[in-house]
Amino acid sequence: MDDDMPNEALAELRTKHLGVWGVVQIAAGTGLAVYAMWVGLLQPGFRKVPLKLQVPYIPASKAQVKNVMSLMRGRTGGLVDLGSGDGRIVLEAYQHGFAPAVGYELNPWLVQLARFHAWRAGHHGKVSYRQEDLWKIDLSKCKNVTVFLAPSVLSLLQKKLQDELPNDALVVAGRFPFPDWNPCRIEGHGVDRAWAYNMQAQPHHTSQKNQKPQCKTV
Ligand SMILES: C[S@@+](CC[C@H](N)C(=O)[O-])C[C@H]1O[C@@H](n2cnc3c(N)ncnc32)[C@H](O)[C@@H]1O
Ligand SMILES: *[C@@H]1O[C@H](CO)[C@@H](O)[C@H](O)[C@H]1NC(C)=O
Repeated sequence: MDDDMPNEALAELRTKHLGVWGVVQIAAGTGLAVYAMWVGLLQPGFRKVPLKLQVPYIPASKAQVKNVMSLMRGRTGGLVDLGSGDGRIVLEAYQHGFAPAVGYELNPWLVQLARFHAWRAGHHGKVSYRQEDLWKIDLSKCKNVTVFLAPSVLSLLQKKLQDELPNDALVVAGRFPFPDWNPCRIEGHGVDRAWAYNMQAQPHHTSQKNQKPQCKTV
């Protein structure tokens, strides 16, 4: 009985060793796969975007989309989503009566996916997805803007929006708030939270700085 112990232990050790090696192999394989995906699927549109401005694709949750739409309630007309991913916010906005609903997305695969989703929902031709760099588009005519990007780019985006957006614009940010702005409404909790900002209430907004914060969204 006692004789069996060392053998058993050894056998166990061996399988453990193999297990560890297996894990290493799997990890390496997964790493390669992720890297290949990054290069092949995510990079193409981003070649000209500086590394520090590159934002990964994370789709908004159902609750996040709902919170964003609830902060946009009461507004009409056109809506723009900066970094529209698979187009879920744009599509939802169209279904809430926003038209034209436009998404800007650099990744060509996501643009195609978004168009497919729109087609499947029967809204082909009703929403539009443009493969353009959001840092290069002129936002001076946008009044209803939604964004879900990363904290690393929000202070730069804050500046662009301040410089370009008209006074009566409303910006709704999902998941991450703008670092220096005062939100007029907040909806939801945790990762699903969304913040609404009235442009004329922001401290450094170029056109009118002395107006009271207001949120005509209810
Ligand atoms: C966090 S995801 C959000 C996707 C979508 N708005 C949603 O809520 O599901 C951010 C998206 O912005 C896109 N993006 C990042 N930088 C961009 C840029 N400079 N121009 C256009 N799109 C960009 C990314 O490709 C990614 O799909
Ligand atoms: C955004 O919302 C406002 C307020 O409802 C509306 O007047 C405007 O036409 C909308 N769209 C655009 C593109 O400004």
